[in-house]
Amino acid sequence: MAFLSDTLARVKPSPTIAVTNKARELKEAGRDVIGLGAGEPDFDTPENIKRAAIAAIESGKTKYTAVDGIPELKKAICAKFERENGLSYKPSQITVGTGGKQVLYNALVATLNPGDEVVIPAPYWVSYPDMVLLAGGTPVFVEGRMQTGYKITGAQLEAAITPKTKWFIFNSPSNPSGAAYSREELKELTDVLMRHPQVWVMSDDMYEHLTFGDFEFVTPAQVEPGLYDRTLTCNGVSKAYAMTGWRIGYAGGPEALIKAMGKVQSQSTSNPCSISQYAAVEALNGPQDYVAESREAFERRRDLVVAALNTCPGITCPTPEGAFYVYPSVEGCIGKTSKGGVKITDDEAFAAALLEEAGVAVVFGAAFGLSPNFRISYATSDAALTEACARIKAFCEGLK
Ligand SMILES: Cc1ncc(COP(=O)(O)O)c(C=O)c1O
Repeated sequence: MAFLSDTLARVKPSPTIAVTNKARELKEAGRDVIGLGAGEPDFDTPENIKRAAIAAIESGKTKYTAVDGIPELKKAICAKFERENGLSYKPSQITVGTGGKQVLYNALVATLNPGDEVVIPAPYWVSYPDMVLLAGGTPVFVEGRMQTGYKITGAQLEAAITPKTKWFIFNSPSNPSGAAYSREELKELTDVLMRHPQVWVMSDDMYEHLTFGDFEFVTPAQVEPGLYDRTLTCNGVSKAYAMTGWRIGYAGGPEALIKAMGKVQSQSTSNPCSISQYAAVEALNGPQDYVAESREAFERRRDLVVAALNTCPGITCPTPEGAFYVYPSVEGCIGKTSKGGVKITDDEAFAAALLEEAGVAVVFGAAFGLSPNFRISYATSDAALTEACARIKAFCEGLK
């Protein structure tokens, strides 16, 4: 009898975490490495949020709470959905988990049966396909090409839906491409979904606050109220308030689904950290200055990185609408050989040689289901980004 489960054999460890670990190892070994792999803001959690957590500890809010969130936080989440997205949810339609990751996972575990399909646009966040596989479902990919801004069209979505499709996972702004759908682009997708009543929508709005210029963020249940009864609107405080380590994510959706997700959580982790929940109440209800400040910084960095990468021979980098990632194509580098003698056969070879020879850690595109590309997280200092882009340029100029 095999010790490890058959299900586990179907999934792979997160490649983004692997790149971050490799960069850390090289640094510890004394190498000069700039890590552009990690998907987290480099800013500190705002002071008012930290103070709320300290107050929670000091007033003894350190015990088990209701499994899927304290009433104060559910109330703050309802107010957030109403204020920012025009969506009305009752507290009984809200669930809170240990990060957005757990919320998405709970929903898949609570609903997928063997054979159920989940449509996932590529390039995708690395965890979606593996979460679907862990939950017993089958991921179905739809490619958003660079030419369409890494977005999929209604016709592509229509072609991917079958009678077995249970979920459509939608992520805008996207990790890894930074692509965000305008109201018109999203309406094209929701029109298709309206024709397929068996398909539920999992909208991962984690990067909602990070859109640039006058881009207007929209979410499916807002664009098409007809989808409200089969949409799970997921969000969290990790990226919006520089709270990745606090582990609070949440979602609003139909009561029966929310209850089922709570059941999964009750038999795995129980409540998310009580202290983090009180901190999240302050994040959502308190001053929102950090949100605008970080957006401004990220927009400046996006412009810096896009401009610099487009001067690198063999690289094409579109300008994304949001998040803190860019997803350049390295098509023009494929088939060449680096100064160190590495043949660039694909984006994985490109990223490996870039790390080894130039000391820049990026994540190769195949990890996100669309090649030949790589992802840069520009959630790091302007100085580090400028130096990293100079190294990438020198590396590309050295390809023969
Ligand atoms: C698209 C997307 N969804 C969800 C998450 C998970 O966020 P959390 O840290 O709250 O679990 C991430 C984190 O990288 C993400 O990029």
